[in-house]
Amino acid sequence: MTTQAPNTPDSTEVPERFANYDLFGEDYVGDPAAFWAQYRQSCPVAHSDLYGGSWLPVRYADVQATARDIEHFPSGNGISVVGPDEDAEEEDALLPGGVPPIDADPPLHTWTRKLILPSMAPRAVQSYEQGTRALCRRLIAGFIEQGQADAAADYAQQIPVRVIGALLGVSEERSDDFVGWVRGILEFAYDKERRQEAVLAASEFLLSEIAKRKESPTDDLISDLINAEVDGEQMDEMFVLGEAFLLMVAGIDTTWSAIGASMFHFASNPDDRKRMAEDPDVWPLAIEELLRFYSPVTMARVAEEGAHINGCPIPAGDRVLMSFPAANRDPEVFDQPDTFIIDRAQNRHLAFGVGIHRCAGSNLARMELRLALEEWFAAIPEFELADPSTVTWAGGQVRGPRSIPVVFPRSARA
Ligand code: HEM
Repeated sequence: MTTQAPNTPDSTEVPERFANYDLFGEDYVGDPAAFWAQYRQSCPVAHSDLYGGSWLPVRYADVQATARDIEHFPSGNGISVVGPDEDAEEEDALLPGGVPPIDADPPLHTWTRKLILPSMAPRAVQSYEQGTRALCRRLIAGFIEQGQADAAADYAQQIPVRVIGALLGVSEERSDDFVGWVRGILEFAYDKERRQEAVLAASEFLLSEIAKRKESPTDDLISDLINAEVDGEQMDEMFVLGEAFLLMVAGIDTTWSAIGASMFHFASNPDDRKRMAEDPDVWPLAIEELLRFYSPVTMARVAEEGAHINGCPIPAGDRVLMSFPAANRDPEVFDQPDTFIIDRAQNRHLAFGVGIHRCAGSNLARMELRLALEEWFAAIPEFELADPSTVTWAGGQVRGPRSIPVVFPRSARA
C-alpha cells in the first residue's frame, strides 16, 4: 500500500512501514522522526486510514499556516486525534459546554481564554515556584537513598498533577485519580469505553468540586471561574466545568512527558548531562532544545469546505493532525534538526503551538520543567539508565516516556 498526497509534485512510492502512520503504534511512538523524514521527501501531507482517517502535514510552514487558518481549520469541529466524531456525542453530553478555549472558536474562544490567562501569567506562576521546588525535593528524598528510581513514574509523573491540583484547589490525595483519568482520555483515546469512563469520572468529580465551592468559596481557580463575570453575568456552570476539565487534561500529561523526556535525555547522554551539571548558562537554551526535540503534543483539526494545505486539498470533514513535533524537525527551519544541540541558539520551535490556541500554560510548563531539572541535578548530578531496554514510551496526542529506570551513586546529596 502507498500513501500519496494529492498535488504533491515530488510524490513517490512510500515503503509499507510508513503507509498508515499510527500515532499510538509502537513503530511511530518509538521513532516518529523516521516517519516525518520519509514524508518530507515523498508526501509532506501524508494520509493514514486509521482511527477514522487523518492527514499529517510535516513541514513547519504547513503546520504553522494550518494552525493560523482558523476559518478552514476551526477547533470547534473537534480536536481529538482519533475519530470518527459520532463517538464523541456521548462525551458531549457529559461536557455540554465543551472544553474551551481549546475546542472553541471566537468569540467563545476569546473570552474563555481571557479568563484563565491571569492564573498562568509569569507573576502567578512565580507564586507556585516554592511549592513546586518543595514537592521536587520531597519526591527525591523518597528514593535518593536507594541509588535507583524510575525517573518517569517516581518523579516526572508526580509533579504536574500536584501543581495543577494546587491551581484548581484539589486535594493532593486525588493525584492518582487525576493521572488515571488523563491517561484514559489521552493515552487510551482509541479505547472508547475507557475514554468515556475517564471523562465521566473526571467530570463528576469536578462538578462536585464546583458544588462545594458554591456553598463555601475557596481561593483557587475553580472559585475564580465560578465568580467570573462575562458581560455582567455569571458564566454558565457548563463552562466552569469545561475550563477546569481542560486545565486538568492539558496541564498534566503534557508536562509530565516533557519532564520525563528530559530525564531520559540526560540519563542516556552523558556529555549533555555533564554540561548541565557544570554550566548554568546553558540551561535556558537546553530547556528550549528539550522542548523542540521531544515536543510531546500533537493536536487535531477537522477541515471546513475549501480547506487546503500548501496546495493539497483537504476534503471538508477530514481530520488533520497538527504535528508540532514534526514541524520542529524541519530542516528548512532547523540546522541538523534530528540532532540534539544543547546550546542551539536559533530555536523558534512550535512545541506550544502557534496562533490563537498557542498554549496558555507555557509559563507554568517551563517553570515546572526547569525546577524539576534544577532540583534533580542539585541532588543527583550523576545518573544513567539502568537498562535502556526497560524504558517505555506512550504515544497518541501526547508522546512521552512512562518508565525510565535510572541508577545513580548512593553518595548523591540527600
Ligand atoms: C510542556 C508542556 C506543554 C506543552 C508541550 C503544551 C502544548 C500545547 C499546545 C501545542 C497547545 C495548542 C493546541 C492547539 O493548537 O490546538 C496547547 C494549548 C493549551 N495548553 Fe498547553 N502544553 C503544555 C503544558 C500546559 C500546561 C501546564 C497548561 C496549564 C494548565 C496548559 C494549558 C493549555 C491550554 C489552556 C491550552 C488551550 C489554549 C487555547 O486554546 O487558547 N498547557 N498546549
